[in-house]
Amino acid sequence: MRQPVAFLDSLGRHLELVTGGDADNPTLEAGILELMSALQMLLRLNAFPVFEFREGDVIYDGELMPELQRWEWSLKLAEAGVERLKVTPGTTRDDMEGFVDEVVSRLTLDVQGATARELRGQTGLQFQALVDESTAAQSPLQDMAAEFDLQEEMGVGHWLHEEVTAHGRIPIAETSAAVELLSVAMHSEAGVIIPLVELKEVDQYTTTHSMNVSCLSMALAESLGYGPTDVRMIGEAALLHDVGKARIPLEVLNKPGKLTDDEWQVIQGHTVEGARMLLAEGPRMELAATVAYEHHLSWEGEGYPRLAIPRQPHRVSRLIQVCDVFDALRTRRPFRPPWPQGRAISYLKDRSGTYHDPEFVDAFLAMIKEWEPRRVTLDDAVEGVAAA
Ligand SMILES: [Fe+2]
Ligand SMILES: [Fe+2]
Repeated sequence: MRQPVAFLDSLGRHLELVTGGDADNPTLEAGILELMSALQMLLRLNAFPVFEFREGDVIYDGELMPELQRWEWSLKLAEAGVERLKVTPGTTRDDMEGFVDEVVSRLTLDVQGATARELRGQTGLQFQALVDESTAAQSPLQDMAAEFDLQEEMGVGHWLHEEVTAHGRIPIAETSAAVELLSVAMHSEAGVIIPLVELKEVDQYTTTHSMNVSCLSMALAESLGYGPTDVRMIGEAALLHDVGKARIPLEVLNKPGKLTDDEWQVIQGHTVEGARMLLAEGPRMELAATVAYEHHLSWEGEGYPRLAIPRQPHRVSRLIQVCDVFDALRTRRPFRPPWPQGRAISYLKDRSGTYHDPEFVDAFLAMIKEWEPRRVTLDDAVEGVAAA
């Protein structure tokens, strides 16, 4: 059974149990456990699922679910004022029980009234009635993206880097969720938030840069025809490519003047250090570890960390490297202003076939022509977070 079907099936059965009112505690407990487990499985596939219940049908992320045509609970949920249901990764068991109680009380006591209550911001589950045709016609993805603003993505990014800096561990589930947020924002038709975040605070460099590289790499992978799972894996690897910088003191990382040989060695060590931290997280992070290790190696295997026998880096390392270099050049640093786009493009072209893989340079340049106008400047609201 598909995960979204399994989740709704289990939601329907639990609603049935609670509505009946005669289930004993162990049965209810088993029901909620099963429902939460179905939810976790679904969130692993899709961190922000959106369901709509219309005239007995179910629409999942904009597409009709054939398995649930004339599903009894689609009609009942709509009757209770739940015509659109959004689930987020932060949904707790309390949220779920609150939602179920709310639906059951609306159905049994008929308290829903003309307009449904919105629970946005209070719970990981959000639901609402569809107010009119124009709202109903809007794609769930657009609708969700419109609700995000850049501060939310930045907040997740900062939090991730703080976790790594403070505990030396990489929060894997949250990394996936951050990539999902970036992906949704990136696909927003609103066209205002992503892909490129412009830096205001020097200390935000690594976070901001990692998020930009993640967006750019996912877009490049998509433009090259990679499937959604690969795109997400690439987005995660890109988000974490500089994670080893968490171990570098800020005064070295952001030093405006010339670096000493020792300081330069410390900076170069972020590749090996990042790979070590990622490998410690297990096989799930192998691709990210490879990219962390290889992203400063040239197409022919020169650069750092020095390889005993130079070899071509992994294809994904080569893809991410183009995005990494482009974003680094376009960003203001303590030691230099941002490069104009034309100069950054010439730089990539000049090194295509020597430092960079020409296939990815060509694809990247074709892609960013359309993206550059969408750059936005981050205001100073998020600040004081250490670069990682
Ligand atoms: Fe790096
Ligand atoms: Fe980088």
